[in-house]
Amino acid sequence: MSNRILAAGLGYHLLMRVRRSAHPLRQALLAQLAGSGLVGGMAYAWPGLVVALWHAVLLQAVLAALIGQQLGAPRWWIPLHLGFLPAVLLASQLKIAAGWYLAGFVLLLLVYWRIDRSQVPLYLSNAETAAAVADLLPASPCRVVDLGCGHGALLRHLARVRPDCQFVGVEHAPLPWLWAWLAARGQDNLQIRHGDFWQVSLASFDVVYAFLSPVPMARLYALLKAQLPPGSLLVSNSFVVPGVAADAQIKVADQRETQLHCYRMPPARQEIKA
Ligand SMILES: C[S@@+](CC[C@H](N)C(=O)[O-])C[C@H]1O[C@@H](n2cnc3c(N)ncnc32)[C@H](O)[C@@H]1O
Repeated sequence: MSNRILAAGLGYHLLMRVRRSAHPLRQALLAQLAGSGLVGGMAYAWPGLVVALWHAVLLQAVLAALIGQQLGAPRWWIPLHLGFLPAVLLASQLKIAAGWYLAGFVLLLLVYWRIDRSQVPLYLSNAETAAAVADLLPASPCRVVDLGCGHGALLRHLARVRPDCQFVGVEHAPLPWLWAWLAARGQDNLQIRHGDFWQVSLASFDVVYAFLSPVPMARLYALLKAQLPPGSLLVSNSFVVPGVAADAQIKVADQRETQLHCYRMPPARQEIKA
């Protein structure tokens, strides 16, 4: 009895630690493992409960989803937990050669890269948004950067309609970067760089475009405030900077009702002399 209490206590302690660490992959792995462990324990304690493999798989899926929720995973993880083991079971019955799974994994990795770390997936600005961003650029020649430029279509449009400006895209995911880099050849005012935009100096840019996710916005704004000259502009597609009022909000006339949140960098704070 005391062993069971100890095991339950240890399990609870581990769950709470993972909940606090909030790393989505660790949370997901723990939810899946804990779901499997619980099903194993239940099948051992009540042998009549799980009579077919499908029962065990469905029970595990529901438990993993519930545990994931308890660990504080975002809501969109729930269908992933519900579908993961059933999908594995289905796929194992299709008798697909193992190499295809590896190829699929490598392809996803090359497109989405370290999404678990950046928490910024790949989705693309549409043509209407590119046109709206072009309207926001200053009338005089300027320098513009797209942080996480994906396959670079937005920048290619801007570079075409504003030949007097310089455009830079930074992308860390290998395949989107390669696409953007190849497609940018021949456009002299467009440069595509491979790398992590957190490591790039942004001091020389007048306009920063970002279509990221809610996660990095506060950190991004702090970085831009420290690096950009006063008066330069952050245009954030869809995601607001928490706690900062936007200077303008532009509604794009597209199907997904895109909003562009515009923030002017404030003047540097004056030191008050005693
Ligand atoms: C939502 S997509 C936007 C793509 C493009 N800006 C557009 O509007 O069409 C975000 C992109 O940022 C990239 N990304 C995320 N974090 C990054 C980082 N730290 N450094 C460079 N690229 C990053 C992702 O790989 C993804 O391609």
